Amino acid sequence: MSKASLRRVDKLLSSMGYGTRRDIARLARTGRISLDQTELLDAAMRIPVSADLPNRMQVAGSPLDPLSGLVVLMDKPLGVTCSHKEAGSLVYEMLPPRWRRRNPVVSTIGRLDKQTTGLLLLTDDGSLLHRVISPRSQIRKTYRATLARPLDGTEIALFNSGTLKLRGDDKPLAPAKLEAISTTEVLITVTEGRYHQVRRMFAAVGNFIETLRREKLGDLCLPDNLAPGQWRLLSKEEIALVFR
Ligand code: URA
Repeated sequence: MSKASLRRVDKLLSSMGYGTRRDIARLARTGRISLDQTELLDAAMRIPVSADLPNRMQVAGSPLDPLSGLVVLMDKPLGVTCSHKEAGSLVYEMLPPRWRRRNPVVSTIGRLDKQTTGLLLLTDDGSLLHRVISPRSQIRKTYRATLARPLDGTEIALFNSGTLKLRGDDKPLAPAKLEAISTTEVLITVTEGRYHQVRRMFAAVGNFIETLRREKLGDLCLPDNLAPGQWRLLSKEEIALVFR
């Protein structure tokens, strides 16, 4: 958000998951909302919403959550699902519980399988989300995979050929780049996002993926200092790396 638009405090905070407008009015009345160190007692007040607001506003003793337009980079752990409502552990449970009540909602940018780990982005910016997942963007996704069986030497050319058809698909896959780290460990870069794509590619050559980890999206790499399940917000410059 570059220009400061005026928003009612109660509407702003309830859209960020802090509670109903009545809850926010109570927080304000009891002196638990402050702006520039001054208590904001009237939740109906309109305030300018600029990018620096989270540094200037406190709610119940903590800095305001990130404003809308956020992008999260997470190291998705094993066994966690990219869904809002399936059974079992969900990636959204790694974020603050309040964020699940935000409007616009925070969603994953594309999905990783339950058994895939690594670089996962989440955002509440619908147009960014569509730009990243749109087939037209052809964003490179790089995965490290370990294989049940050694490579047989045909895979690099086949995956790069643009002729490999996966079972049940009408169209062949776009060329993908395969780099062998060892006979059972590879880096594979694809520009499409078909269902279970990388696992199905190796199934098509009679192999089986034992572990799959996304390490890179465009030029954005998964940093070494995030543990599984940890996340951080991305800067505008980091988001731009996805499109490079
Ligand atoms: N390809 C897969 O098979 N699974 C993923 O999670 C991502 C790409």
